[in-house]
Amino acid sequence: MRAKKVLGGLVALGLAMSLTACSGGRGSDSSDSGDNDGALIGVAMPTKVSERWIADGDAVKADLEKAGYEVDLEYANNDIPTQVKQISNMITRGAKVLIIASIDGGSLSDQLDAAAKAGIKVISYDRLLTGSKNVDYYVSFDNFKVGVQQGTSLLQGLGVVDASGKPTGKKGPFNVELFAGSSDDNNAHLFYDGAMSVLKPYIDDKTLVVRSGQTAFNQIAILRWDPATAKARMQNLIAKSYSGGAVVDGVLSPYDGLSLGILSAVTGAGYGTGGKKLPVVTGQDAEVPSLKSILAGQQYSTIFKDTRKLGHQAATMTDDLLNGKEPEVNDTKTYDNKVKVVPSYLFPPVVITKENVQSEVIASGYHTQAELDK
Ligand code: GAL
Repeated sequence: MRAKKVLGGLVALGLAMSLTACSGGRGSDSSDSGDNDGALIGVAMPTKVSERWIADGDAVKADLEKAGYEVDLEYANNDIPTQVKQISNMITRGAKVLIIASIDGGSLSDQLDAAAKAGIKVISYDRLLTGSKNVDYYVSFDNFKVGVQQGTSLLQGLGVVDASGKPTGKKGPFNVELFAGSSDDNNAHLFYDGAMSVLKPYIDDKTLVVRSGQTAFNQIAILRWDPATAKARMQNLIAKSYSGGAVVDGVLSPYDGLSLGILSAVTGAGYGTGGKKLPVVTGQDAEVPSLKSILAGQQYSTIFKDTRKLGHQAATMTDDLLNGKEPEVNDTKTYDNKVKVVPSYLFPPVVITKENVQSEVIASGYHTQAELDK
């Protein structure tokens, strides 16, 4: 498949070269200069703490190298100044395209300006770069839908809606607590909005009760998606809002790392033993520790987003850009970064519970049985 792509790229390259010849050449524009064989591509990833970003980085790098590019893949340890420095270096080293999964989507405007000045194209990877016109493309998943799926899955785990999403008539009331991701990550807001679009009617009619009263994004956001912060918040909630014998029945968690922190807090408080059921806990990313937890009957669900597809799409877009070809997009309306609507290619997310870990995640080769058995 890649070979076909490269071949397509070569044809396009030929076309770009002849177009350049016709127009007398536009040497400084990397998109049609015709000298992009083996060009340097900068790939900036946020952190290695979460296994998904390692998989993302590996997928992008492998695809780009297969197409003959040189790749500078950097991880910034969730530290904004480090990411700023890494991207500046990529620009100085002469990268032709930057693929960026930001830590703080709004903190890179100076680097994006510098990139634009140097004729470097920028692909925003999974997390939208905000507040800058110098973002050319976005590759991600339907992030609002991820939130809808998380909210629906919480309701399914509680038995409030059935497998098809229809209300069962079960009225609870169920005690739930809500968590959101990092406020500087545009995705966190979309996950929250999507989940709340599903949960709010049930909070309003008191099927769901948030005993802490914390439902606003800013009250429930976990900076840098940090599992330890989520664990501490859950411990706090249990101590403050569940001391008189009330139990937590469900927790909306937007990401597997947080889910495991939350589960650690509830098991530490005696849930999961002596007839005190674990709450229904959602997640995202289909990471191995969470899949194991799901199969062991602890975490209830996760959202599978195939990072191989995302990585491949980013590499294909890069190849297209450097061969004078317009990259394919499938959404030109949704992702407004506050300055422009960024043309996007979005993949659909898939809900995973213990019923379909095998058929979706293992059968597709995303993870192996051996990884789950370890
Ligand atoms: C988000 C991403 C999620 C999750 C989270 C924490 O931007 O969309 O899938 O990985 O970051 O890393």
